[in-house]
Order: sequence, then C-alpha cells, then structure tokens
Amino acid sequence: MRGLLPRTMSSAERVEIDSLHKIFGDGANSVRAIERISAAVGPGQICSVIGPSGCGKTTLLRILAGLTMPTEGRVVTRPSNVAMIFQQPVMFPWRTVRANIRLPLELHGRVGEEEEQRISDLLDGLGLRGFGDRRPSELSGGMLQRVSLARALISDPGLLLLDEPLSALDEMTRESLWCELRTILKRDDLTVLLVTHSIREAVFLGDMVMVLSRRPALVRSLHDVDFGLRSLSLLDDGNFSSLCRKLRSELE
Ligand SMILES: Nc1ncnc2c1ncn2[C@@H]1O[C@H](COP(=O)(O)OP(=O)(O)O)[C@@H](O)[C@H]1O
Ligand SMILES: [Mg+2]
Repeated sequence: MRGLLPRTMSSAERVEIDSLHKIFGDGANSVRAIERISAAVGPGQICSVIGPSGCGKTTLLRILAGLTMPTEGRVVTRPSNVAMIFQQPVMFPWRTVRANIRLPLELHGRVGEEEEQRISDLLDGLGLRGFGDRRPSELSGGMLQRVSLARALISDPGLLLLDEPLSALDEMTRESLWCELRTILKRDDLTVLLVTHSIREAVFLGDMVMVLSRRPALVRSLHDVDFGLRSLSLLDDGNFSSLCRKLRSELE
C-alpha cells in the first residue's frame, strides 16, 4: 500500500509538451493565449506554474487534460489517467460528500466494498472523518476543496492538474492546507501541475516553479526548489524569502 490508496500499478509517468501554441478564434478577434511552451515534468514531481492573470495558465492545463486542442505543437507524453481540480469546487449538491467522491468510480462501474473502504480511508486521511454523509452545503470552502481532492485521488490519477485550487480560501486556511496538501501529494508520489497566483504557495508546494510570461504565454524561467521537507517554519526561512523575491521581480 502506497499512500492513501492501494495501487495496482505505478501510474506515475512523465509529462512532456513540445512547442505548444494556442490561438482562440481567428481574424481580428483572435487571441494568442500560448506561444511555444515546451516543458517536461518527471514522474512524482510537483511543478508549480505562475504567471500574470490571463496569460494562458488555465489553457495550458486544459490542453494537458485533453479538454482543449492546441493550435500547434503537441503533448508528447502524459499519463492516461488525468484528474483536474478547478478553482471553485464543483459538487452535486443533492449527493452526500461520500457520493460525490464515489462518482468517478460509478462512471466506471467500479463500486464495491473495497471502493467504499478507500473512500473512508481518503475521508480520514483528509481530515473529513464523520462528514461523509453530509451534503456539500454543510461544509466550509476548505473542506469542499478537500472533497474535490478526494474525488480526484479516488480514480488514482497518473497526473493531477490543480487550477488555483486554494484561491477561494482565506490566507490562514490556505496556509494551513499547504503542509497537508504537500504531504498527500508526495505520499502518493503524484505527478502534479499546480497553477497558483501565490508565489509563496508555488514555492512551498513545488519541486520546481515554472514562470510564464504575459500573454501569449511562454516559459520565462524554470526554478528548482530544494527545501526538502516542508513545514510552516519554512515561511520564515531566508532562502525561501529570497526565492520568492526573485520570482516576484521576474513577474513584475
Ligand atoms: N474558450 C476561449 N475562447 C476565447 N478566448 C479564450 C478562451 N479561453 C481562454 N481564452 C483567452 O485566453 C487567454 C488566456 O486565458 P486563461 O488560460 O484562462 O488565462 P489564465 O488562466 O492564465 O488567467 C485570455 O485572454 C482568455 O480570455
Ligand atoms: Mg486561470
């Protein structure tokens, strides 16, 4: 058993994109969202993506999820099972928390005792014990994002795409979730692309940080982050602050 979920096979694979371009529309009203993005993220790595608002971050994730086709270039390789978490948790309000998490399994016709146990393990692991039979309207924003995470993890994704998953939360809730989130992602050895507008979040959670330029987005720089184990005391570390400053100056 590795992490929260028993895995029958390793789904951690490499992600590689080559010269992606994306133009929306045509003629005078066309929008060049992405220009020539190439990147590789190794199995089990968390790559944070930061860039100015509207530069094409969501578009990049949507291309990786197969929801949007690139105009040019290609996704060279990516795990087949991709899960995406959006900025606002998307829940079915009439379903209980447990039934929301179960949904991807139902769609694949895989629901049994073992699966119910996995849902219970996920609820426990994400601090949601006792909330499985509640409706989404009874949960806070932070809890709902954990439910989204549980629903993404239940299908054992090889690639997890997180689009500003914590941005709707207040700063204190967000920071308290950072350690938990990093622990869960690392425990399951997940390959992750995390889009965030918080530089501190990008550095705290990432093994690498990709800085995108203004639209049309291209990769401005890539930074390795080697702080080893992450705890909230890292936020006061001089090296942490200086990397954040460097990234901020690149974005300005
Ligand atoms: N489906 C679409 N049709 C037309 N333009 C779009 C579409 N999706 C995104 N765009 C445009 O592409 C640009 C990048 O959008 P997006 O990827 O959402 O940016 P970000 O996530 O970095 O804020 C924006 O100018 C946006 O208006
Ligand atoms: Mg976006």
